[in-house]
Amino acid sequence: MAVRSMYDPKNMVFRHLGPTGLKVSVLSLGGWLTYGGTQKGNIVKECLQAAWDNGINFFDTAETYAAGQSEIEMGNALKELNWPRDEYVLTTKVFFGTGRKEPNTRGLSRKHVVEGLKSSLERLQQPYVDVVFAHRPDVATPMREIVEGFTQVIRNLNLAYYWGTSEWSALQITEATLIAEKYNLIAPIAEQPQYNAFHRDRFEVEYDPVFKKYEYGTTIWSPLASGLLTGKYNQGIPEGSRFANHGSMFNDTIASLQSEVGQSKIEKVRKLTTIAERLGGSVSQLSLAWCVANPNVSTVILGATKVEQIHDNCKALELIPKLTPEVMEEIEGVLQNKPKPAPTYGRSR
Ligand SMILES: NC(=O)c1ccc[n+]([C@@H]2O[C@H](COP(=O)([O-])OP(=O)(O)OC[C@H]3O[C@@H](n4cnc5c(N)ncnc54)[C@H](OP(=O)(O)O)[C@@H]3O)[C@@H](O)[C@H]2O)c1
Repeated sequence: MAVRSMYDPKNMVFRHLGPTGLKVSVLSLGGWLTYGGTQKGNIVKECLQAAWDNGINFFDTAETYAAGQSEIEMGNALKELNWPRDEYVLTTKVFFGTGRKEPNTRGLSRKHVVEGLKSSLERLQQPYVDVVFAHRPDVATPMREIVEGFTQVIRNLNLAYYWGTSEWSALQITEATLIAEKYNLIAPIAEQPQYNAFHRDRFEVEYDPVFKKYEYGTTIWSPLASGLLTGKYNQGIPEGSRFANHGSMFNDTIASLQSEVGQSKIEKVRKLTTIAERLGGSVSQLSLAWCVANPNVSTVILGATKVEQIHDNCKALELIPKLTPEVMEEIEGVLQNKPKPAPTYGRSR
């Protein structure tokens, strides 16, 4: 008997993940610092369900998030929710390990790529993930071994369908792709980089050639700059917020909020708020829609501690058609941080 689909895409927009046939919702949900960290049990299931109800089909975690607890909590939630497995996309990441100090429990050696992913799947209670990301480049492991390791988990072990990179340089992505082509191995298909209105250069300039040459996909993180682009830090640090709960991790950011640079960012958030309200939305929604407006973004990974944040953030979809060239120009006027493209010496095409 055919499985009846419970998934309703609503007004969600879908994009192919890089050069693959895999379709991902332009908004997705991740578990860094939240699921298994500050949020455990029922709330995790409720957040995943809220995402699903808004048409989100893509969920992200990593072996290192809350030292493996994120995978455990998200795995428990997915098991209880019992959605048809062919209707959602699940990703995890290996590299940092779960905090153990033995020499082979982190990095991208063939051993850790295989064993790290197997352990992730056990925590997730899943037979495979759709995409496994190399959470960082490993300069201590030969690139050929890294590509062979990811090829092995996909081709021989059926533990993943695709692999990607996270915070790799364009050069490293290119090297991995060329090695895959040369030795008949599997090339990575997407990068997971930080991208938001305050963090643009690498995405918009350095990665441009890999977008053009390989149609490389992206699953972008911290689209709200950890909450700065919601306006919640305009008047200090509210109790219960990320900067309050994870003070030591965000020490530098918190200190910089008082500096000229930090104050100028807050001023920009205020000005963006005015534009957002004129368009009928909030500054969070405008900031997320601005990320989606970049065609090289395959999916914007949301983070959320509360169900309401997910419902609120998904309304960003309504702002996308309102981002006309004139509005985008107005936003550039506020941000004043558009990266200069790489020089072409009159030879652009
Ligand atoms: N590959 C990597 O290296 C890497 C690194 C970081 C993240 N990621 C992935 O990207 C995902 C998203 O990153 P992120 O969590 O940093 O995204 P973010 O959108 O920049 O920050 C999310 C946080 O902002 C606050 N927030 C979100 N919506 C809000 C709203 N409408 N109103 C008020 N506050 C709101 C919440 O924190 P509070 O409620 O606690 O304030 C929430 O947890 C992660 O879960 C993870 O999957 C990947």
